[in-house]
Amino acid sequence: MPTPYERIAERAKDAGILVTPPKHWEILGDVAVLKMDRSDEEQRLGQIYAEILGVKTVVVDEGISGIKRRPSVRKIYGDGTETVTRENGIIYRLDVTKVMFSSGNKKERMRMGSVVREEERILDMFAGIGYFSVPMGKIAEVFSCEVNEDAFHYLRENIRLNKASVKPFLGDNRDVVPNLNTKFDRIVMGYLKDTYEFLPTALSALKDVGTIHYHEAFRDKEDALTRVKSICEGCGRDIRAIRENRIKSIAPRVEHYVFDLSF
Ligand SMILES: C[S@@+](CC[C@H](N)C(=O)[O-])C[C@H]1O[C@@H](n2cnc3c(N)ncnc32)[C@H](O)[C@@H]1O
Repeated sequence: MPTPYERIAERAKDAGILVTPPKHWEILGDVAVLKMDRSDEEQRLGQIYAEILGVKTVVVDEGISGIKRRPSVRKIYGDGTETVTRENGIIYRLDVTKVMFSSGNKKERMRMGSVVREEERILDMFAGIGYFSVPMGKIAEVFSCEVNEDAFHYLRENIRLNKASVKPFLGDNRDVVPNLNTKFDRIVMGYLKDTYEFLPTALSALKDVGTIHYHEAFRDKEDALTRVKSICEGCGRDIRAIRENRIKSIAPRVEHYVFDLSF
């Protein structure tokens, strides 16, 4: 029995397509996401992927940029780019041309849904479409900040679809968090661009005893940890314990980790 890729390659060859079809793809609901260079043959190739993978739309991912983590995506086959994907019993609605969804973080989404306790109050400082907020909001009370209007739209939609206990706030967390006038047991910092700059805001909102799930992408883990410890000390907070968890590699020698900082 040929694999889907073997069938795609065979169909492309029969159609006289000269471009080598990409071997890897991601399926989000009924949309397939590929990585490949532009070519005159991409629309025909897109149709082959759609037929063999059974999806309505095929897009090419050209990367994610800026603080608002906006994806750059070009559609090569189909119409709709809004889709619904299911994971660990949670439904996520999103438009792949407007917001990011990292399949590589699946285990961490599952872990976040399992570490929280019912009596906790949680802050998600970089909520996106609710990747962590929604699974956590099935168990405890979550406050979520998101600065990108498109992501915020889907965050609200996913809270509604999953009946999660999440209060969403649109805006920069450095403006929103001080105005919440609330202290949290657990804070999630799921962001990879200079995350350390946001640590003072997180520390100011953390209870005396609490946990921060601090994400960072780095080349040198010890340097990253030294910086985290020094910022915490500068804010008058001693880290009691650090538990580290490797999420994925995001570029050659650049690793994405989450540090669970216990205070
Ligand atoms: C990397 S995405 C969320 C990823 C998600 N945690 C996951 O695992 O897939 C980070 C989100 O933080 C938002 N963001 C960036 N800076 C922010 C800020 N200062 N305040 C609030 N949200 C911010 C971005 O718009 C983006 O949607």
